[in-house]
Amino acid sequence: MSRLVVVSNRVPLPSERGPRAGGLAVALSDALQPGSLWFGWSGRRTGTPSTTPHTQQAEGIAYATIDLSEHDYRTFYVNFANGALWPLLHFRLGLLNYRSEDYEGYRAVNRRFAQALKPLLRPDDLIWVHDYHLFPFAEALRLLGVSNRIGFFLHTPFVPPALLHALPRAEELLRAMCAYDVIGFHTRTYRQAFLECVTDLLGVRADNDGRFVHRGRPVNVIVDPIGIDADSFAAGATDAAQGMEVRLLRESLPSGRSLAIGVDRLDYSKGLVNRFEGYARLLGKHSEHRRQVSFLQVAVRSREDLGDYQRLRRELDRIVGDINGRFSEFDWVPLRYMTRAVRRTTLAGFYRVARLGVVTPLRDGMNLVAKEYVAAQDPADPGVLILSRFAGAADELGAALIVNPFDVDEIADAMHAGLAMGLAERQERWRALREQVWYSTAARYCQLFLSHLEEYEAQPTPRRLHAAW
Ligand code: ADP
Ligand code: F6P
Repeated sequence: MSRLVVVSNRVPLPSERGPRAGGLAVALSDALQPGSLWFGWSGRRTGTPSTTPHTQQAEGIAYATIDLSEHDYRTFYVNFANGALWPLLHFRLGLLNYRSEDYEGYRAVNRRFAQALKPLLRPDDLIWVHDYHLFPFAEALRLLGVSNRIGFFLHTPFVPPALLHALPRAEELLRAMCAYDVIGFHTRTYRQAFLECVTDLLGVRADNDGRFVHRGRPVNVIVDPIGIDADSFAAGATDAAQGMEVRLLRESLPSGRSLAIGVDRLDYSKGLVNRFEGYARLLGKHSEHRRQVSFLQVAVRSREDLGDYQRLRRELDRIVGDINGRFSEFDWVPLRYMTRAVRRTTLAGFYRVARLGVVTPLRDGMNLVAKEYVAAQDPADPGVLILSRFAGAADELGAALIVNPFDVDEIADAMHAGLAMGLAERQERWRALREQVWYSTAARYCQLFLSHLEEYEAQPTPRRLHAAW
């Protein structure tokens, strides 16, 4: 059997275990097998980084990481990956900041990653690369003569050509992506958008199965929604119910008072401003909910070196203060707002306590929080999921209360409906959601992707593969 080599910008190092936020780390750690290698950035910044990776082992998995210089970190991670690609891929052209020196830094780090990984590779390794930080990574490996099968999965949405055109050098990046053998997306819509871009920018048309040929190499584009380890998450939620934190949370809700919960990285794509405004609208329009509901928002700080994230944090501080100032009573605070990570099992217990799970991103590749909320519910008394139609998860979780996150009245109305919903409807909706969450798990996601990669016939590296840059 081939060895699996996972490559991602962030590597969940065993030496740094603790509460981790981010869908990728969580989903892959649920499904990675012993014997595999995980390669990426150590998370450290050093003066003169070496291209020889640091390695460590845990539970049969090898972790190999390299450091980044301060310049790499700024150009590659902060400015290009998260200051240009992230806003673009989340349909926020107004936040896209492109500078050619950042793009060059991004390409240089991809080349450095490839140089560092190459000596660790065996001829029959299957290489699975993740996310927008590494669009040109396969091309960099191919230029070093690597002919292994290389798959790529994008954890964000993909944009249609009209938006992609806004990114300078988009065509070059798209060409570089075609050095992957298998490319996966969460939904049919993202795959369709990608294929339209390939046609529009590269003049190549795919067949009905999402296969096309570029520079003589076949590329297979698939749909493979990511999921969670539903059984273990559900078990964690039940266990956590006995734990101190969950007990304290319950005790903080006087009898009859409901909890609504939101759990996100503190990111503008997550729609937190609109969510809070929707909640304020609920309390304004339906005064019967005052004192009867408390909203707990856990918003772990993320990408704090980016100005847009700093501005969002300040804006949220202001809005939370405004809502609590406006609606609080001496013995009731409507909105509890924490900006740090919570342990995964505790989080599962919190979801189980909450009558409403509020997931309202403006755009989101998948959104695993929605699936976690479903998995954590008590079948005898499940809560209600409110879900943005612009989260990839909405494709699968149509039995949630689906909202347009740009419409704060719709968010308020869904909260009102969820709080008023009787047990029979809650159970009926939850059973439909449960079926999906248990069908499309993390294990299934990995199996499906890897089966496509295994089936792919390894291609010889074309002699004349020129760098696109
Ligand atoms: P993204 O990958 O954009 O962060 P997802 O919703 O897909 O979004 O995944 C987020 C993951 O991180 C989930 O597993 C969630 O439980 C976890 N997470 C998010 N916020 C927190 C938090 N404040 N504390 C602990 N875990 C969190
Ligand atoms: O899902 C998007 C993503 O970039 C993941 O790849 C990552 O785990 C998570 O968000 C956290 O982001 P960052 O690595 O920038 O802290």
